[in-house]
Amino acid sequence: MSGWMMVKSSGRQLLRRGYATVAAPERKVAVLGAAGGIGQPLALLMKLNPLVSKLALYDIANTPGVAADVGHVNTRSEVTGYMGEDQLGQALEGSDVVIIPAGVPRKPGMTRDDLFNINAGIVKGLCTAIAKYCPDALVNMISNPVNSTVPIAAEVFKKAGVYDEKKLFGVTTLDVVRAKTFYAGKANVPVADVNVPVVGGHAGITILPLFSQATPTANLSDEDIKALTKRTQDGGTEVVEAKAGKGSATLSMAYAGAIFADACLKGLNGVPDVVECSFVQSTITELPFFASKVRLGKNGVEEVMGLGALSDFEKEGLEALKPELKASIEKGIKFANQS
Ligand code: NAD
Ligand code: LMR
Repeated sequence: MSGWMMVKSSGRQLLRRGYATVAAPERKVAVLGAAGGIGQPLALLMKLNPLVSKLALYDIANTPGVAADVGHVNTRSEVTGYMGEDQLGQALEGSDVVIIPAGVPRKPGMTRDDLFNINAGIVKGLCTAIAKYCPDALVNMISNPVNSTVPIAAEVFKKAGVYDEKKLFGVTTLDVVRAKTFYAGKANVPVADVNVPVVGGHAGITILPLFSQATPTANLSDEDIKALTKRTQDGGTEVVEAKAGKGSATLSMAYAGAIFADACLKGLNGVPDVVECSFVQSTITELPFFASKVRLGKNGVEEVMGLGALSDFEKEGLEALKPELKASIEKGIKFANQS
C-alpha cells in the first residue's frame, strides 16, 4: 500500500495517508480455486492485505483445511472456506473482487492453449455463478489460457445481461513482475525502482514487454533487449520446465495476483493514480481485448491507456502477435457461444 498506512483506533480499521484519515471500507474478496498451487499462497497474501475485511476461499476440494490454516493469521479479515458447487453462491455473495486461479496448469511440452479444453468449461461455470451472485464484482482472471478465458467470461456475462467491460481483467501482472526482475538484473539497477509496461496478451509472443519505456533507463544493446524480451515471453515455460511435471508458476503468480487484487481494491477505495497492466476490453488496437496499462478507479477500469512510443523492434513484435492473439480471443468467444 504505497503511501497508505493501516491504523487502528477504538477497534476500527482506518486508512491514513499524510494527515488524512478515512475509515477503510468493508471489502469482500473471493478466491476461486483457493486450495490450489496458486490459490493457497494467494489466500495467505490476501489475508495479509489490510484492505480486505472478508476473505472467501472456494474450491471443489480441500478448502476447509486451507481456510482453517489461513484463518489463524492475526490480520483484519474474517476467513471462510467453501467447498463444492452448492456452496459457490455463498462464497460469491457480496464480493467486491473475485480472483480466479481455478483450473489445470501446464506440464512440460504443453502450450497454455493446450489447457483450453478443461479450463474453458471451468471458467464458464464459475463466471455463470458470478453473474448470478455478485454481478458487480471486479473479476481477476488468472486461469489459462488468459487470452481465451477473458473473452469467455465476457460472453458469459453478456448472455446473463451483466457485462461491464470495466470490471473484467485478465491478470498479466506476472509478466510485468518478470520483466522488472530480468531488466533489473541486466541493467544493474535496483529492482524496486524498475517499471516496465508489458502489453499484448499472456502467451508466448503475445507477451510484449516494452523495454524502450523501462525506467530507470539503461544503455542496453539491441541483443540485450532481444534476449530480455524472449526471456519474459518464455518465463512461464522456464518455470514449467524447472518444475518438471509438477505444475507451473504458483508462488510468483500468487505474488503477482496479490499485487493486482490490491490495485483493484485501492481503485475501488478511491486511491488516486492506481495503474497496472491488464488484459481488458480495449480499442487501442483493432483487437477487442488487449493488455496495456490501465488506470483503476471506483468502478474498475477508469482508463485504458495507450501504448506510448514504441521502438521498431516493439512495433514488429506488436504486428507479429496480433494473429495469434486474435485467434485465441475468437476461440474463447466461439466456445462461450457454442456450448
Ligand atoms: P492447481 O492444479 O495447483 O490448482 C488449481 C485449483 O483449481 C485446484 O485446487 C482445483 O481443485 C481447483 N479447481 C478445479 N476446478 C475448479 C472449479 N470448477 N471450481 C473451483 N476450483 C476448481 O493449479 P495452479 O498451479 O494453481 O494453476 C491454476 C491456473 O492458473 C492454471 O490454469 C494455470 O495455467 C494458471 N496460471 C496463470 C498465470 C497467469 O499469469 N495468469 C500464472 C500461473 C498459472
Ligand atoms: C505463467 O506465465 O507462469 C503462467 O501462465 C503459467 C504457464 O503455464 O506458463
